[in-house]
Amino acid sequence: MPSETLKILAISGSLRQDSFNSAALKTAADLAGDSAEFTFASLADIPLYDQDLRDKGVPDAVETLQQQVLKADAILFSTPEYNYSVSGVLKNAIDWLSRVDPQPFADKPVAVMSASMSAFGGARAQYDLRRILIYLDAHFVNKPEVMISFAHKKFDDNGALKDEDTRKFIGDLVEALGKWQRRLSAGKPS
Ligand SMILES: Cc1cc2nc3c(=O)[nH]c(=O)nc-3n(C[C@H](O)[C@H](O)[C@H](O)COP(=O)(O)O)c2cc1C
Repeated sequence: MPSETLKILAISGSLRQDSFNSAALKTAADLAGDSAEFTFASLADIPLYDQDLRDKGVPDAVETLQQQVLKADAILFSTPEYNYSVSGVLKNAIDWLSRVDPQPFADKPVAVMSASMSAFGGARAQYDLRRILIYLDAHFVNKPEVMISFAHKKFDDNGALKDEDTRKFIGDLVEALGKWQRRLSAGKPS
């Protein structure tokens, strides 16, 4: 791997073993090849947010995620759409990270894609994620917008993405995230 390899943290909003969103993130890693080093976050052990629990400290799984976000050059989300918004699992994880110090999404370059079995491909969840992360000062890539509709017809039983157009969109998004990260870091005071 080249020394300037982009470190991307992939966060799936689905805990499901055969999740299309997790499969989309694996596809992104494959398509990036040597240009990016992917780490896959797990939200499985993050407890439900409870202020009483937070007052006792930061749970290990939350601290692990916080450190992963801090160390990453950029974040790539893929979220399912649950009842027109992001999954509760993802919102809960973000709620935790908004209550730790340092808040790790501040100034972070981020991109989002979504996969769903419907015709909209999770578009509504994407816009909610953008809105949720406004207050946390994350900086989103605007385009391309990758909404994987009819996901059950595009991935095979092993989670391999067969649809060539969607593969191209995902590859373009990873490239756009790299360019966005370089642009943002060039503008940062040293
Ligand atoms: C509670 C729940 C709510 C859902 N709501 C929506 C929805 O609003 N829009 C949509 O396109 N799909 C919806 N779905 C279907 C998901 O798109 C589908 O389950 C998808 O496979 C979830 O992503 P995953 O494969 O990454 O787990 C919903 C599924 C669940 C379980």
